[in-house]
Amino acid sequence: KKLVFSGVQPTGNLHLGNYLGAIRKFVALQEGNDCIYCVVDLHSLTAQLVHDDLPGQIRSIAAAFIASGIDPQRHIVFNQSAVPQHAELAWIFNCVARIGWMNRMTQFKDKAGKDRENASLGLLAYPSLMAADILVYRGTHVPVGDDQKQHLELARDIAMKFNLDYQDHIRRAGRGIDIIVGDEPVHAFLPMVEPLIEGPAPRVMSLRDGTKKMSKSDPSDLSRINLLDDEEAISKKIRKAKTDPDGLPGEIEGLKGRPEADNLVGIYAALADKTKTEVLAEFGGQQFSVFKPALVDLAVEVLSPITGEMRRLLNDTSHIDAILRNGGERARARAEATMKDVRDIIGFLY
Ligand code: TYM
Repeated sequence: KKLVFSGVQPTGNLHLGNYLGAIRKFVALQEGNDCIYCVVDLHSLTAQLVHDDLPGQIRSIAAAFIASGIDPQRHIVFNQSAVPQHAELAWIFNCVARIGWMNRMTQFKDKAGKDRENASLGLLAYPSLMAADILVYRGTHVPVGDDQKQHLELARDIAMKFNLDYQDHIRRAGRGIDIIVGDEPVHAFLPMVEPLIEGPAPRVMSLRDGTKKMSKSDPSDLSRINLLDDEEAISKKIRKAKTDPDGLPGEIEGLKGRPEADNLVGIYAALADKTKTEVLAEFGGQQFSVFKPALVDLAVEVLSPITGEMRRLLNDTSHIDAILRNGGERARARAEATMKDVRDIIGFLY
């Protein structure tokens, strides 16, 4: 059985990129897997130290999970800070990971900007906490958007170095399994996480510029569809979305070099649970004046029930708070089981 783990930061409003790149996949993975979905509030301090309404932002992400169809009874929904074992394992990973690995992260370079000396230590160590989030449950599969790929490769590097450095201790503690890495046998405790990135919209782009990622931090609200947008806003944003003068091609190759067209077709496909090829078989040869209204209808059909349910859930916070409390308790028990082994392996007395 796969152990699926993923997280979403409680910063700003969720947008269509978060939904198609991540949350929609979380929902689909529930069948047949054991899933843990986390609101990563500790991570949100790296973007902004002081938040006006962090509790509200945490609840809003949890509400989006539930409204999208995640079942918090069968699976676990909780916020990261409720499980201190994440931070405990992250500290150990800070000692496993190398500064050079962290310095190479493109997200760190983007977010730190020119004045790197002035970036917080937390921003640099961000991927180490992310690896801990997953590995404290010995998670194996991680649904994310394409922008998180490099962080997940780093999580594998951390797990591998931990396994290699501690292999004798892991054996002594009787806690590992034998695996072959390259040609070398290794006694491993931490699994190698698999990113789940595929699908028609692994990277949803800005509606104003097909070369930029759709993001919470874009100053133009027209660049993204927010999960809390109403029908009128969705319709306006899609109608105003940048396109090129040609119509839709009949085949995928025809989308090459046309980032805006490619993006809209990818969004349609992801919303419809189809492939881009299937969408082009339906709309190839049509103008955007035909495709855009169809995309508006589909987006409204998929998103408006979620928006409505999110609003309803956020009206009375006691229900969401109970879900988070219960999820936190269950997550804590599981994380503590892993940490007992980790402490034994390292040699801490507790
Ligand atoms: P965050 O909060 O920035 O984004 C949440 C999820 O949305 C995806 N995403 C996108 N997907 C497609 N197109 C886009 N334009 C787009 N923008 C965002 C992200 O890839 C992500 O899956 N570091 C993570 C949170 C995290 C995490 C983890 C994820 C912390 N610990 C452990 C997985 C496992 C982040 O900042 O995501």
